[in-house]
Amino acid sequence: MSRDVINALDERLRANREGGGRERAEKQHAQGKLTARERVELFLDEGTFEETDALVQHRCTDFDMEQRTVPGDGVITGHGRVDGRPVFVFAQDFTVFGGSLSESNAAKICKIMDLALKVGAPVVGLNDSGGARIQEGVASLAGYADIFLRNTISSGVVPQISAIMGPCAGGAVYSPAITDFVFMVEETSYMFVTGPDVIKTVTHEEVTKEDLGGAMTHNARSGVAHFASRSDTDCLAQIRRLLSFLPSNNAEAPPVVASDDPPDREIPELDDFLPKDPNKPYDIRKIICCAGDERDFLEVHEHFAKNMVVGFIRIGGRTVGVVANQPAHLAGTLDIDASVKGARFVRFCDAFNIPLWIVEDVPGFLPGTGQEWGGIIRHGAKLLFALAEATVPKVTVITRKAYGGAYCVMGSKHIRTDVNLAFPTAEIAVMGPQGAVNILYKNEIRNAEDQARERERVVDEYQDLFANPFVAAERGYLDEVIVPRMLRRKLAAAFSLLATKRDTMPAKKHGNIPL
Ligand code: HXC
Repeated sequence: MSRDVINALDERLRANREGGGRERAEKQHAQGKLTARERVELFLDEGTFEETDALVQHRCTDFDMEQRTVPGDGVITGHGRVDGRPVFVFAQDFTVFGGSLSESNAAKICKIMDLALKVGAPVVGLNDSGGARIQEGVASLAGYADIFLRNTISSGVVPQISAIMGPCAGGAVYSPAITDFVFMVEETSYMFVTGPDVIKTVTHEEVTKEDLGGAMTHNARSGVAHFASRSDTDCLAQIRRLLSFLPSNNAEAPPVVASDDPPDREIPELDDFLPKDPNKPYDIRKIICCAGDERDFLEVHEHFAKNMVVGFIRIGGRTVGVVANQPAHLAGTLDIDASVKGARFVRFCDAFNIPLWIVEDVPGFLPGTGQEWGGIIRHGAKLLFALAEATVPKVTVITRKAYGGAYCVMGSKHIRTDVNLAFPTAEIAVMGPQGAVNILYKNEIRNAEDQARERERVVDEYQDLFANPFVAAERGYLDEVIVPRMLRRKLAAAFSLLATKRDTMPAKKHGNIPL
């Protein structure tokens, strides 16, 4: 082969690697951002990146665009490995037409999404884009829709992860929104459907980009994002860590990670961990961490609906998805946000063969007109539906309160949970003692000479009767009441037994979860 031919190829590849040029790359760095290529290289195992479509160019001829072409056309696509396992990746290159999405650039993304679906590997999108390529008009919009379709078809087949590492605005937000997990980099990323200027014109509200759609807004307020990262580097490392818990596709089990932490390790400190006063808060994450291998817990959606804690641990090296009430926030009540957060996480785990551990300490659904008018009925139903529908191994541990409808929802035996355990401190009842005596002993309290003392007496009576796990255990609604120190042993035994669990739903197109 002649040297000229090789040189011509090298020249095109060099132009692709340079993207929008050094000046624009420096601008990117000055903003605290990495370039798309740096991100891809840093994200994947060293030397594993195989680029596809490096020479693809746009075909737009309007606005003199034929004079302005860059091989690769503003998005880097391909595949590589993360901890040795294949992963597909696309990274929008802000240095080329602001990372905007052209017809050709969308086709590149669709190509790797199609291949990822066929080979069964996750897709990670690194978003940093000015949105639809304005010069291409509807062809660009069509490209977005092509991606949205693939996001939807791939949902539940391969994990899809989005990192927002710059602008992500307009309809472009809907691809990340369909994916399973959204990461946002603090201070450099934002997401919104309509930006501050449009909002000012239409509603006369004044809001900054950061307040409207920055990383913490979407992590803490809207719940659109699941992780906030301090920097691009931090974000890419967090995605790698998340992937380490996940299978590559829905036909695989999650990877097993060797651990020196014995599955039968007892946790003596748990015996005295719960406060003596049942109304005192405690941090449920301490219990979750104690139970996991090496006490390691990857919390998902940490900043949103803190009354519900979700995330991943490993027990005996195998991934377990944890769904827990958090008594340290809003007393662990279920509200709209907590229900939606829990439901989405449960459905992810169920789709990807990740067993569920439900940790329960819930005094009920959060009362109030805000909740009722906001639709707690249909949102709470999502969590119930998701947990009832899930066919992966399910183990529930009641640490303290399990009251009312929330008892049914949070992995009760009745919604086909496989193993139901409780600490001796569990209180399983229709409602808490104070509310219950108001109804059951209304007359006795009213007619008593000393109403306060009578109330105290009947509260004690009610507590003796119901504020324990034994009525439920006698009926077989609990399989076992366990000493807290045995928690990890019991979980390990249960999940090991359930590893071969088979359960199905009746044949149907799909259920109708109350969206
Ligand atoms: C073509 C674009 C572009 C776009 C940016 N550029 N966005 N080119 N289409 N959508 C180009 C700029 O012309 C510029 O080119 C380079 O990218 C860098 O942009 P700057 O404006 O210099 O960068 P910065 O100041 O950091 O501002 C970034 C920005 C701004 C806030 C994203 O560029 C911007 O507002 N862009 C337009 C955003 C937008 O309205 N997009 C359409 C949204 S509607 P040069 O050559 O000068 O370096 C949409 C619909 C999707 O996306 C629908 C899906 C269903």
